Amino acid sequence: MLVSGGFFHSGLVLLYWVWLGVSRSVTAASPPPHIVLIVADDFGWNDVGFHGSEIRTPNLDKLSAHGVRLDSYYVQPVCTPSRSQLLSGRYQIHTGLQHQIIWPCQPYCHPLSDNLLPQLLKETGYITHMVGKWHLGMYQKDCLPTRRGFDTFFGYLTGSEDYYTHERCYHMQALNTTYCALDLRDGEIPTSDYRMKYSTHIFTERAVDLIANHNLEKPLFLYLAYQAVHEPMQVPEKYTEPYTFIQDNNRRVYAGMVSALDEAVGNVTDALINRGLWDNIVFIFTTDNGGQTLAGGNNWPLRGRKFTLWEGGVRGVGFVTSPLLKQKGVTSKELIHISDWLPTLVNLAGGSTNSTKPLDGFDVWKTIRSTQDYSI
Ligand SMILES: *[C@@H]1O[C@H](CO)[C@@H](O)[C@H](O)[C@H]1NC(C)=O
Ligand SMILES: *[C@@H]1O[C@H](CO)[C@@H](O)[C@H](O)[C@H]1NC(C)=O
Ligand SMILES: *[C@@H]1O[C@H](CO)[C@@H](O)[C@H](O)[C@H]1NC(C)=O
Repeated sequence: MLVSGGFFHSGLVLLYWVWLGVSRSVTAASPPPHIVLIVADDFGWNDVGFHGSEIRTPNLDKLSAHGVRLDSYYVQPVCTPSRSQLLSGRYQIHTGLQHQIIWPCQPYCHPLSDNLLPQLLKETGYITHMVGKWHLGMYQKDCLPTRRGFDTFFGYLTGSEDYYTHERCYHMQALNTTYCALDLRDGEIPTSDYRMKYSTHIFTERAVDLIANHNLEKPLFLYLAYQAVHEPMQVPEKYTEPYTFIQDNNRRVYAGMVSALDEAVGNVTDALINRGLWDNIVFIFTTDNGGQTLAGGNNWPLRGRKFTLWEGGVRGVGFVTSPLLKQKGVTSKELIHISDWLPTLVNLAGGSTNSTKPLDGFDVWKTIRSTQDYSI
């Protein structure tokens, strides 16, 4: 049986519906909103229920149905460039990160001269947490999330790994040898305490814990970058049980991975409601790039996949849910780009982008907030 988190089965539902009815506007007196930014890895266009997928995502469907679904939302075709734009507001051609991804042994990282989103939010009083995948470089300590503006970090630094052992293997061609190493850190210290625990579970547990212990006098920024649903194809069996009708093995396991991710989003939402953070939240969900069709993903009806410049590679699943939105339950056709989040969120937070290098992204809050419903 599919466990879909407590979110839609608990007494909190009432509270949630009350909240959905609330619409606030930002005034000088309003405290800055809590910001929760969830990134799914390699999540394809046709892998979410609200795009008509056979994969069930009740939490993502419901949350987005009461927010703004971004229908012309663009990302980069691959991980490091996309994530670097997300956290810097600048194109990779300006940061030297245009050469595909940062491979485990490559000695570079997102330029230290850039002020990243968590730094800017921290400067304006936010508590900043990161859980999950970094992939913006780690060859020296100054590159680590905890040195780039995050108060805490729990996650991994490379681009992919085993969901249970948290080990990353890398074949060094020059030496014709494969090396494997643990890539899971609590802060800056590698930890083996979570061996054989599925990453979607441990990242959610940490996120829930951070939320439950959040100091209510401060605004929260939580950057939750899930390993799901990147390859390798791994998920606890119970999540694939509803999908016996899917013949393709990769697709069936992938569907289970998506279900676990959807359950995770439900759990995080529950925690935010429980802690009383929902009535002043900006909740963003985004993929980093299009789905990898060679590993279970599907971008239909869009052509192409991760790594390509076709729509299937660069048009991303994304939505925003917040009581600060004027219109809810609408689909935005406006062009929004992943580089837009930094100026948008820093401005919403009452911060300043004065200290950044020239940004490529734009503040799109007014566009999102006042979305007209053009959907048929
Ligand atoms: C690499 O090592 C494998 C065995 O470990 C060997 O079969 C192969 O020939 C080696 N390749 C090269 C290019 O040396
Ligand atoms: C969500 O919470 C439930 C109840 O605590 C737990 O059993 C489940 O494993 C959690 N799911 C995820 C994906 O963390
Ligand atoms: C940022 O620059 C603008 C325009 O120069 C100025 O009005 C504003 O006070 C600056 N903000 C901060 C926080 O420095």
